[in-house]
Amino acid sequence: MAVINSRACSMLFMAAMLLVAVIASTSSAFPSLEVDFYKETCPSAEAIVRQTVRLFVSVNPGLAAGLIRMLFHDCFVRGCDASVLLDSTPWNQAEKSSLANRRLRGYEVIYAAKGALEARCPGTVSCADVIAFAARDASYYAGGIDYAVPAGRRDGRVSLASDISGNIPPPNSTAADSWNIFAKKGLSLDEMVTLTGAHSIGRSSCPSFARRLYNFAPWLPQDPSLDPGLAAYLKSRCPPSTVDVNSTDPTTVWLDGVTPEKLDNQYYKNLLEHKGVLFSDQTLQTSPMTAGLVTCNAEHNEVWAEKFGKAMAKMASIDVLTGSQGEIRKICWVPNY
Ligand code: HEM
Repeated sequence: MAVINSRACSMLFMAAMLLVAVIASTSSAFPSLEVDFYKETCPSAEAIVRQTVRLFVSVNPGLAAGLIRMLFHDCFVRGCDASVLLDSTPWNQAEKSSLANRRLRGYEVIYAAKGALEARCPGTVSCADVIAFAARDASYYAGGIDYAVPAGRRDGRVSLASDISGNIPPPNSTAADSWNIFAKKGLSLDEMVTLTGAHSIGRSSCPSFARRLYNFAPWLPQDPSLDPGLAAYLKSRCPPSTVDVNSTDPTTVWLDGVTPEKLDNQYYKNLLEHKGVLFSDQTLQTSPMTAGLVTCNAEHNEVWAEKFGKAMAKMASIDVLTGSQGEIRKICWVPNY
């Protein structure tokens, strides 16, 4: 019995040591992200990105919205690996070519920053890190929201338009539909509602909300949760033909008509007045699971801004590639050869 015990014990010990070795090798191969990651290898990396964002946003403030949205669309699809930047090829439809990314903007800012980084520190800073830094800098210029961005992401080599469905919530999502996706990414309900506050800047095209105006339900053409005054305005901008999601009507409207270029909690105040442009926005206020969070954010701008920075940093760490995984792309829109 004693023999069995000691043998079992030593086997357990060996198994434990093996586990420690596996964990150690895994953690060294795939280290976690670190603040100041480029301190030794490219000390000016974050300053270069911030400078580039400042330059572009000073000419076109709307690009701040594009850059914040880009982080969301990158991180929710295959993790934050810059797959959103890869171009389609004759044999592959990349994420870029999907309907959800059709109006994504700000690519030129990322490419300019990456160009400057390649000139200063070739082959060092990943495109995925540039997206994460740029989204932070956009939050800073649009709303004074600043936060540390742990870095060390590496770039993926795959981008598939077919990955969008089930990972990027469509604008007709209920709060429960969206939560289904956000929870899978490891984000809390509070973080979901907080991050959606990004809709306090930027714009939407008509097909993203026109069904609310003309074709809400067979027995009810207009969404009753939409303020009638806002509905009349939106109808004046978007004709019934824009109910077609493939419509190429170029009209856009502000997501927050009160402070459209300021990243703040006005978005939540709008929701309390039934003035959310997207169904997926208004549903956060009409749904009991999120209504309280909307009211809280509407009442406390400082608290929301603090939570927003934290949630952006957390979103920027979803399923990242690190260590020897992936690669540092030389050009952000093609994988290295
Ligand atoms: C339930 C979740 C979400 C849904 C359904 C959603 C959907 C949309 C849609 C449909 C648009 C307008 C696209 C168009 O028609 O041009 C949009 C714009 C935007 N989204 Fe979201 N979104 C969600 C969450 C987020 C999150 C988490 C962020 C970032 C943290 C974000 C940032 C933005 C920004 C900044 C814009 C304006 C973009 C611009 O002006 O270029 N969204 N979103």
